[in-house]
Amino acid sequence: MVLARPTFYITTPIYYPSDNLHIGHAYTTVAADTVARFKKLTGYDVYFLTGSDEHGQKIERMAAARGKSPKEYVDEIVAGFKHLWSQLDIEYSDFIRTTEERHKRVVTEIFRRLHEQGDIYKSSYEGLYCTPCEAFWTERQVGDGNCPDCGRPVELVAEESYFFRMSRYADRLLAHIERHPDFIQPVSRRNEVVSFIKMGLEDLCVSRTTFDWGIPVPFDPKHVIYVWVDALTNYISALNYGAKDDTLYRRYWPAVHLVGKDIVRFHCIIWPIILMAAGVPLPRRVVGHGWLMLDSGKMSKSKGNVVDPLVLIDKYGVDAIRYYLLREMLFGVDGYYSEENLIRRINVDLANDLGNLLSRITAMINKYLDGEIKAPRPADDPLDRELIDLALITPGEVAGLVDQLDLSAALGAVMKLAGRANKYIEETAPWVLAKDPEHSERMATVMYNLAESYRIATVLLSPFMPGLPARVWDQLGISDQPELQTWESLTWGRLPVGTRIARGAPLFPRLEVGK
Ligand code: MSP
Repeated sequence: MVLARPTFYITTPIYYPSDNLHIGHAYTTVAADTVARFKKLTGYDVYFLTGSDEHGQKIERMAAARGKSPKEYVDEIVAGFKHLWSQLDIEYSDFIRTTEERHKRVVTEIFRRLHEQGDIYKSSYEGLYCTPCEAFWTERQVGDGNCPDCGRPVELVAEESYFFRMSRYADRLLAHIERHPDFIQPVSRRNEVVSFIKMGLEDLCVSRTTFDWGIPVPFDPKHVIYVWVDALTNYISALNYGAKDDTLYRRYWPAVHLVGKDIVRFHCIIWPIILMAAGVPLPRRVVGHGWLMLDSGKMSKSKGNVVDPLVLIDKYGVDAIRYYLLREMLFGVDGYYSEENLIRRINVDLANDLGNLLSRITAMINKYLDGEIKAPRPADDPLDRELIDLALITPGEVAGLVDQLDLSAALGAVMKLAGRANKYIEETAPWVLAKDPEHSERMATVMYNLAESYRIATVLLSPFMPGLPARVWDQLGISDQPELQTWESLTWGRLPVGTRIARGAPLFPRLEVGK
């Protein structure tokens, strides 16, 4: 009997095509891609979704400003998203666009259902409105009667709108969060969400009549459905929820949602409540990550300080950029980007600890063992034992950290193995062993242990830096042995005696600062 593999569904937010994406957006997608690849490596049947959130007034206006239809405008930007993801080695299963029919069908259906069961009702939205800015303000924001943005007078207006009875579900949501301690991570975000719900949920305005670029309310087409209800639904519309053939939905839902801290509330309050009301199981987990900041603050188009990932990939290579993002962003908190930092990480971690280790191993095997892996002795030396034990516990440790989405710590664990191997070279001093032919067996053992540790580290790094392994396998002489490159191969002693080692170019050349 063949057992079905366990499934794993991970999503990124769907990005607004209002601008090109920057290095902060790249972080989210690279992180989700790495988790997806790691889960695949460890035997899961994985579905990884990303996409674009294409409706709304802002997009409508940006298109108009460029003399384009909204669809023409988003088509161009979305092509740019897909290009960026291919340059970053992102291996998604599907890319959902909210302008696709398959998506609109599900949003419309859910809206209709919630309306029929009385969770969505029509009322009017009253507020202080600034017509030139097309924005509503609260009394406190307005103060003297003028718009806080442009300073012109605001008026009291009433707009007909549909509302979603969120308050009805607040207690059920709180109970769910309590019963599922992992539902919202990290704990700091969970606490924020819980106190927000406890302050009391108001009904949410879920339609607009002030613009057209959106999905119309099916039974009242002068209204369009509020962007967040539209956007959040992508996570199930992409799986053909409610369709005749809903195999994907049945196979993969519920998901792990990876999102930035600014949109945690949407994902932990509005989305679960929509799902509860629609009778759909809640997401498995929502993980809120921090932001990638600059020393000067937030990256923004208006400040003109956005960092373009394509430029960095061109300059430093995709593996280095992925490594940097994943290592530098600590779990759940903000990280700071600077090019000096990036260069330091490349030089210290990649060129020195990782790249130089491989160069040393291949150079020594060439010099001392004629370029061939020779039979090791059983590990009776405590130094050997220590290295081997670390190589054997590292995979489990990395898998646990990836499960918690602590990718920086996961990389740290692999780098610790590389560091231990570097130290092992100093401790065993092969250049001393080489002086006496009596030590030839010891030399064979030391070289075997180093090459085998490097093989294990490389398998573990493959989800983080997908371009790396092929270059390592060439040098370790096992390119044509895929069975030595798998998760199942991470036991000790798989590297065959007689393997020919080839010296190759440095994996990560050292960079000169300032050049
Ligand atoms: N369209 C909505 C999401 C809808 S999901 C159903 C949206 N789009 S966005 O393009 O503005 O942002 C997408 C993601 O990028 C968010 O998770 C946001 O936190 C993340 N980031 C934007 N700037 C960022 C950084 N500087 N650093 C890290 N992530 C950043 O919100």
